[in-house]
Amino acid sequence: MTDADFLTATRTFYDAVAEDYADHFPGDGLAGRPLDRALIGVYAELVGREGAVADLGCGPGRLTGYLASLGLRVFGLDLSEGMLAIARRENPGLRFEQGSMLELGLADGSLAGVVSWYSSIHTPVDRLPSLFAGFHRVLAPGGHLLLAFQAGDAPRRHDRPWGHPVSLDFQRRRPEHMADLLTEAGFAVVSRTVREADEALAEPVPQAVLIARRPRKATP
Ligand SMILES: C[S@@+](CC[C@H](N)C(=O)[O-])C[C@H]1O[C@@H](n2cnc3c(N)ncnc32)[C@H](O)[C@@H]1O
Repeated sequence: MTDADFLTATRTFYDAVAEDYADHFPGDGLAGRPLDRALIGVYAELVGREGAVADLGCGPGRLTGYLASLGLRVFGLDLSEGMLAIARRENPGLRFEQGSMLELGLADGSLAGVVSWYSSIHTPVDRLPSLFAGFHRVLAPGGHLLLAFQAGDAPRRHDRPWGHPVSLDFQRRRPEHMADLLTEAGFAVVSRTVREADEALAEPVPQAVLIARRPRKATP
């Protein structure tokens, strides 16, 4: 599958489901997810309030808004104009741009933080090294990455969600594999947390959150 193929499939899917997705995952400060809030709080503290933070694959901007409420200088980027329309409506005053996180038009070392909250789950596994190399490139030395994804091996296919005539695979990944790929891209993994499956949250598999840092250059 070419980049154009899977990016078009992903954009088409999220354009179709955008309003229903936003209703299902409201921007209410991640209610019912105290561990996520705690980890995001740790991440916000590591990043600090000085540098810019990119929420890549921001969707309807629920996390972008939450990060801004913690004092971060955050903007969002997403493939889907449908998602971005909601993000702009729900987060007036924040900046949201259309684009692919696989082709970031950002200067080298220009960010203090990169966030990919369940947005790498549609990137084929053979494109992950390139994705993580791009995250590493745009982060300044000492900058931090926050990466969330469903843990596991087999993908889950979502067919006709909310009755829309679209379908897409949601990949699940092993945290140790993702940590290895981050290390190969030049990151130092700071933490890896796996939250168990939670039926009350309609999450049938464990959820993983990794925090990684682009190391500062060693002093000679
Ligand atoms: C499961 S949603 C998560 C959205 C948001 N981060 C959240 O937690 O609500 C995945 C999002 O990633 C976006 N996405 C997937 N691949 C992308 C890419 N290569 N570049 C930009 N956005 C992408 C999709 O358009 C979609 O909005």
